[in-house]
Amino acid sequence: MDFQLKSLRLTEAAAAKTPALIVLVADGFKPGGGDALARLTGKAAADGNFKTEAGKLLPCYGVPDVAAARVLLAGIGDASPASVRKAVGAALGALKGGAAKSATICFAQDATPASLAAAVAAAADAAYVYSATKGKQARKEQPEIGHIAIAVPRPSSSAHAAFSQAVGVAAGVRLAREWANRPANHSTPTMLGEAARALAKLPRIGCDVLGPKEIAKLGMGALLAVAQGSAQEPRFIVLRYGGATKSSKPSKLRAPVVLVGKGITFDSGGISLKPGAEMDEMKFDMSGAASVLGVFRALAELRPALDVIGLIPACENLPGSRAVKPGDVITSLSGQTIEILNTDAEGRLVLCDALTYAERFKPRAVIDIATLTGACTIALGGVRSGLFASDDALAAALQDAGERALDPCWRMPLDDEYAEGLKTNFADVANVAGRQAGAVTAAKFLQRFAKAYPWAHLDIAGTAWKSGPAKGATGRPVALLLRYLMDSAAPASTRSAS
Ligand code: BES
Ligand code: MN
Ligand code: ZN
Repeated sequence: MDFQLKSLRLTEAAAAKTPALIVLVADGFKPGGGDALARLTGKAAADGNFKTEAGKLLPCYGVPDVAAARVLLAGIGDASPASVRKAVGAALGALKGGAAKSATICFAQDATPASLAAAVAAAADAAYVYSATKGKQARKEQPEIGHIAIAVPRPSSSAHAAFSQAVGVAAGVRLAREWANRPANHSTPTMLGEAARALAKLPRIGCDVLGPKEIAKLGMGALLAVAQGSAQEPRFIVLRYGGATKSSKPSKLRAPVVLVGKGITFDSGGISLKPGAEMDEMKFDMSGAASVLGVFRALAELRPALDVIGLIPACENLPGSRAVKPGDVITSLSGQTIEILNTDAEGRLVLCDALTYAERFKPRAVIDIATLTGACTIALGGVRSGLFASDDALAAALQDAGERALDPCWRMPLDDEYAEGLKTNFADVANVAGRQAGAVTAAKFLQRFAKAYPWAHLDIAGTAWKSGPAKGATGRPVALLLRYLMDSAAPASTRSAS
């Protein structure tokens, strides 16, 4: 998948050599000049066959004096990033499965850098085809739209910057989707470790992958407790991105941001076994880990001036003969003992050891990303990720990044009263509370292990993948995280004008 930014007025687009030309038309568009595309757009709008409402399409074929075989008029309404995303998604969706292997998306009028970035994100999103575990024939029949040119009348330097940033982000989102989509037998903890090692070949990226012996030596009893029910070995993955410069000032800005991604490559529930219906979707339970891999993939391209650490505790949650049992008490890396009352609340167990490990980096912020609770999907559905934070400034920065990246989240409470249910007579803390406020009590559990730094937790249980006929990973919240990291970098780095 490659992207190109072209300088093209609508009058010039008629000559563009492309099998499919998508023309994005905003409300109130006035076609100037009498060239082929202006005539087409004007006529279609005048006789009521084309509406500029965001996402409305008019497919045209064999338009006189236009080089492209297919022309797709697409309304972008108010031309906001959200409207552009909707329109580009609809237009590329309509082309998908057709003969076109490349397309040109042409803004009929000026576009803001943010709307341009939204077009890139939406095009990458819509063009992606999962194929890793499809047969040869299927791969041949459903190739991707591999080349996409985006054309705007006369791109400014901030348009160029926003464009290349969006292309980098899209590569990260894509990698996250790809790993999250792979079935559990094609994305084991070992394979995630190899994926991280492959990323370390990119500039400024380093990686260490710890196996069971090293994990035990460190004392990560919570991660090991979850892993012990499966024949698959656990991995603890440490990724490093070094972008901070010696001159990054104040020195506080040299402290890294740490990202922690839940990497349960399959969550059967363990001895507290899940019901069978839709259990296949628990292959997506490493979406947090996949988002960390995606962020690092993008960082190598975007090169912001800051340091980032990625931590991925990875294992399977299975009910093997050595599996942890309800009532077992284990000792976490922090020294706190945990009574495992429900083996299906395993995400918080692998995360708590990673949160303790994060202390050694003296981070300026730690953000964990996890498909943590079904309760979060009940609360927020698939629209917004759940955001929990011990620090108001961090919460505000993440919320703002989510809005601007069109990858939104919503802050949830962390009152201490929510932790009452985690009390137990047999350990320092239990791993579950009652049924009520399940997303919050899970966050309260994590918070006990995240006292040494400003901390935020993103519960992506509802947003990381879609169910139903369009079942598949979304790549969220890679765009949110990258927006946050780019904004946190020293100003020397390129920032979009969005
Ligand atoms: N991975 C699940 C959370 C989940 C469930 C995400 C469904 C998306 C869809 C997590 O490990 C889990 O099982 N959580 C339990 C916690 C409960 C036992 C307190 C849950 O949400 O039911
Ligand atoms: Mn679970
Ligand atoms: Zn889980």
